Amino acid sequence: MRINSPKLNIMYKACMKASKSLIRDFGEIENLQVSSKGPGDFVSSADKRTEKIIIDELLKAHSDYGILSEEAGIINKKNETNRWIIDPIDGTSNFLNGISQFAISIGYEEDKKLKNGLIYNPIKNELFFAETGSGAFLNNSRIRVSKKKNLKHSLIGTGGPKSNSKFKDMIFQEFLEVSKNVDIPIRKYGSASLDLASVACGRFDGFWQRELSIWDIAAGIIIVKEAGGFVDLIENNVGDSKKKNLVASNSLIHKELLDLVDKKNIE
Ligand code: IPD
Ligand code: CA
Ligand code: CA
Repeated sequence: MRINSPKLNIMYKACMKASKSLIRDFGEIENLQVSSKGPGDFVSSADKRTEKIIIDELLKAHSDYGILSEEAGIINKKNETNRWIIDPIDGTSNFLNGISQFAISIGYEEDKKLKNGLIYNPIKNELFFAETGSGAFLNNSRIRVSKKKNLKHSLIGTGGPKSNSKFKDMIFQEFLEVSKNVDIPIRKYGSASLDLASVACGRFDGFWQRELSIWDIAAGIIIVKEAGGFVDLIENNVGDSKKKNLVASNSLIHKELLDLVDKKNIE
């Protein structure tokens, strides 16, 4: 790993251990028992297995650190100084359909500020990681956001809405708005963490999505920022207020994308 960081080393170790079982599970996808967690949102036994390995490893390193993980919820609630934020499989629907666009995502927060992020796609063997002040990396290479100057010529990603969103129509309308302002059709790849990693390494020029959870984006936010990108969490009348509405892009198109998405009058 190109950054010599105790935190990243712990995250890396946990992630690599978990990814072995995840790769096995991906190979045996049809044997997995899938139980429904709500419309459009499935949780597989692989999610839980992966999550357990990650949590066990992180607790082995620091038994007192707080943890917020998608399936397991909150551990060591009292510790508000140090917290890991985990999505054991981001892109579960892809995973369950045999599509390799999924990742393990681990973020680390100190005093409520994001410090480290690690996103790993085990099938492509792509490891994205960052630490505040040390830059962002993909495997052994430093990564930076794209240099695209205008939204019109940009490649933009998004995701959602979920089938149970109360704001579906508005979100689709927003999709139309952004679509009208770009030449290249908008991408929807189904893994928000990898979407953010794509912004960080310049594959995407920008990404926005409403109603995300913190575990989808914690690692990605710090990776995009360390790659020189801008990230905004917006509050307005579109979307469930408990969830995060995020816009991330290179610095040059950020205002244009943010202005389009942050419109208060989308109804
Ligand atoms: C989902 C993915 C997807 C996004 C959804 C998330 P999951 O996470 O990040 O891209 O559109 O909002 O819930 O359920 O696969 O961990
Ligand atoms: Ca997720
Ligand atoms: Ca997940």
